[in-house]
Amino acid sequence: MKIVLAPMQGVVDHLMRDMLTRVGGFDLCITEFVRVVDQLLPPKVFYRFCPELHHGSVTPSGVPVRVQLLGQHPQWLAENAVKAVELGSPGVDLNFGCPAKTVNKSRGGAVLLKDPETLYQIIKAVRDAVPSDQPVSAKIRLGFDDKSLALENADAVTQAGADFLTVHARTKVEGYKPPAYWDWIAKIKQVTDIPIIANGEIWSAEDALLCQQRSGCIDLMLGRGALALPNLAQTIKNAHVPMSWEQTKELLVSYSGYEIYSEKGLYYPNRIKQWFNYLKRQYPEAEEMFMELRRLKNADEIVKVLAS
Ligand SMILES: Cc1cc2nc3c(=O)[nH]c(=O)nc-3n(C[C@H](O)[C@H](O)[C@H](O)COP(=O)(O)O)c2cc1C
Repeated sequence: MKIVLAPMQGVVDHLMRDMLTRVGGFDLCITEFVRVVDQLLPPKVFYRFCPELHHGSVTPSGVPVRVQLLGQHPQWLAENAVKAVELGSPGVDLNFGCPAKTVNKSRGGAVLLKDPETLYQIIKAVRDAVPSDQPVSAKIRLGFDDKSLALENADAVTQAGADFLTVHARTKVEGYKPPAYWDWIAKIKQVTDIPIIANGEIWSAEDALLCQQRSGCIDLMLGRGALALPNLAQTIKNAHVPMSWEQTKELLVSYSGYEIYSEKGLYYPNRIKQWFNYLKRQYPEAEEMFMELRRLKNADEIVKVLAS
């Protein structure tokens, strides 16, 4: 079984990837999306989203990190994909699931799910441009407004030569509202022979098993669940018991060390509050602590509360 850490813009950066891959259970990470419009981006943009490129594109604990691109122009996406791979990314991932309005106005992300032909053109252009030993993967939702094109889109991804496909089992309109329609992934599996990774609404080892049974997929991608329970991947893969709140707090404090003393220090208070939004789901104690943290603006004060 392979477990992929989901791309999460504004939440899962290289520090979060470092921390979660140290806890273990992950086989691959995908970066936040790098938006491609109409130019070849300079290397510094790739390094900003994926500082791991400086170290062979692996996290400090050795888990590969792949750059994700988002855009609508096949040729610009292809050129930037080649650049990402030249800089060391192990292949590229293409985002066709992002629901953000600004993204859709510039026609990238989930809106392309209305247009299987463009989906095909993009993936084909990227696949043709990137060296054949470097994987090209795609990430889709089940559709934009409804699921009527889900199978056609999966077929377009396959025909274009993608090496694997991650399916977030909801439409754009369904947002992040439960449930995730894992049984739809099983339908997709019937029309494609490329490996599929199932994604959406996995919060526990029990959910993971149910998702595997309903989708027929062994491999999984974890997003919010991994932030709510930092050792979720280990509970799924190696039957670890869920981390206690005390252990998670220790992790938060060590993450604080990274954040404050790294170049991201200024963002720390907001980041940690954002993370608490997910932790609250798993730990009642996090809810209480969040009330206390909410009014604090200074990183040192926050760390004091965390370490208390
Ligand atoms: C805050 C946030 C940011 C996200 N950013 C991205 C992104 O940059 N690229 C992408 O393909 N998906 C993105 N997603 C979608 C996730 O990768 C994932 O598909 C989704 O959260 C469902 O999985 P989950 O239920 O395990 O969280 C994002 C989701 C959230 C909640």
